[in-house]
Amino acid sequence: MDTNRLAHPVSSISNEGALELPAGTSRGETRREFGARLLTSMIAYGLLETLLTRGLLADGDKGTIGKWFAELAEMSNDLHGQKLKDTEFQARMEALYRRVDLSELVKAVRLDDLERATRLPDNGAASVGFDLRNVEGVPAELRFGKQIFCMKQGRSIVPHGHANMCTGFIVLKGTFHGRHYDRVESQPEHYLIKPTIDRTFKAGELSTISDHKDNVHWFEALSETGFVFNVHVVGYDPSIQEPSGRLYLDPNGEKVAGGLIRAKKMSSSECHAKYG
Ligand SMILES: [Fe+2]
Repeated sequence: MDTNRLAHPVSSISNEGALELPAGTSRGETRREFGARLLTSMIAYGLLETLLTRGLLADGDKGTIGKWFAELAEMSNDLHGQKLKDTEFQARMEALYRRVDLSELVKAVRLDDLERATRLPDNGAASVGFDLRNVEGVPAELRFGKQIFCMKQGRSIVPHGHANMCTGFIVLKGTFHGRHYDRVESQPEHYLIKPTIDRTFKAGELSTISDHKDNVHWFEALSETGFVFNVHVVGYDPSIQEPSGRLYLDPNGEKVAGGLIRAKKMSSSECHAKYG
């Protein structure tokens, strides 16, 4: 090891965060030689760790998932601010969800810890929160709700729709039978719904809802366990008076004209007794 070179003053960080060359850099030195020497010096002076901690050096995909959440936060703000219609938000959310780095998302929500700590219910799905405060790049204030649904085989996020809510799922782990329906009309005792999606969802696959597209969702775990990431934006349309809570219904109703189903409105307990 060239101890003389280690004795050179360490590079410093300018106001713009750019590295300044250490004193004594030879003009004849190749970039590679300089890089190797700089790295050695930085390790010796403990600077490398400081730079990585501050996010000032590239570190592979470091911060990628933070930027992804920041985009989600920005589009949620735009939905709240009426800069996006619900279906426009929904399309953008789907596009964003499609390019998520699943392994980074799983790490960010600490799925392994959550899986160890969560008792999976005998009916329906557990809803577990997660903390993004230590994930680099995530804005401090988020105008969306977030949770992980956790369930065991044969159990479901039971069929339901929402008013004044846009929300989306990403399967984090496991395999699901996922179904969606448009909620076409509300009658005193029933909804008229139209099937739109009915397929198997594997890890990394996604679906979204808005008031105007695919509003009812229903996910049953086919694998031994199943975990679903969820973000939801509520109350974005001041003209909608209905509360944003779940609207439970029975999608196995009478088939009527136009490919519609007359789906009976249900209470949570009725719906969980039949589908949970
Ligand atoms: Fe929902």
